[in-house]
Amino acid sequence: MVDPGSQEHLEKIIDSVVFEAEEIHQKVVKLGEKITRDYQGKELLVIGVLRGAFMFMADLVRQIEVPICMDFMLVSSYENSRETSGIVRIIKDTKENIYERDVLIVEDIVDSGLTYHNLRKTLETRDPASLAVCSLLNKEANRQVDVEVDYYGFDSPDDFLVGYGLDYKEYYRECPFIFKPTVEALRELD
Ligand code: IMP
Ligand code: MG
Repeated sequence: MVDPGSQEHLEKIIDSVVFEAEEIHQKVVKLGEKITRDYQGKELLVIGVLRGAFMFMADLVRQIEVPICMDFMLVSSYENSRETSGIVRIIKDTKENIYERDVLIVEDIVDSGLTYHNLRKTLETRDPASLAVCSLLNKEANRQVDVEVDYYGFDSPDDFLVGYGLDYKEYYRECPFIFKPTVEALRELD
C-alpha cells in the first residue's frame, strides 16, 4: 500500500492526463479576455465556490481587467463520495452583500448542475444586478437539472476528474494538470 497524497501514489492512480497545465493556462487567458469585454465599465464581485474552484479562480482573476472584489462560499454536496446527494448545504456564506452588484460565480466543474442550480436560486433572492457563472469544466453528459453555464473552459468527458483544484479524497488539488484516475483508484472512492 502506498500512502495517498504521495508522488508515488499519484503516479499510480493516473489513467490519463485529460487537460495539460499549458492548455488550461491558455484557456484561462481566453476566458479572462471574454469576461473583461463583457463587463467593460462595470465592477465584478467574483465569488469562488470552495474548495474546488480556488485554483482556477486565482488564475482567472489575474486575467480579468475590470475592478474586482472577491469572496468565497463553501458548499457541500458530495460528502466524500463521487456521487452527488442532490442536497446542497451552505457551510460558509459570502461576507460581501451582493445586492445590486454584478456577480460572477466561479466553479471548478458543473456536473449534475445541482450545486450551481441551488446556489443560483439562493443568490437570486438577494437581488444582485446580474448573476453569471464561469466554470472551468462543463460535464453536460451528467446533467440532472437544466442550467445555463455562461462561461466555461472545457467540455468535460463523463469521467471523474482530478487535479487543478479537483480532489481525490481531498488530495491532489495542487496537481497542475487534470487527469482521469484508474478504475482501481475510482473503486476506492465508492
Ligand atoms: P454538481 O452539483 O454535480 O454540478 O457538482 C458540483 C461539485 O461536485 C463540483 O463543484 C465539484 O466540487 C464536485 N465534482 C463534480 N464532478 C467532479 C469530478 O469529476 N471531480 C471532482 N469533483 C467533482
Ligand atoms: Mg469535491
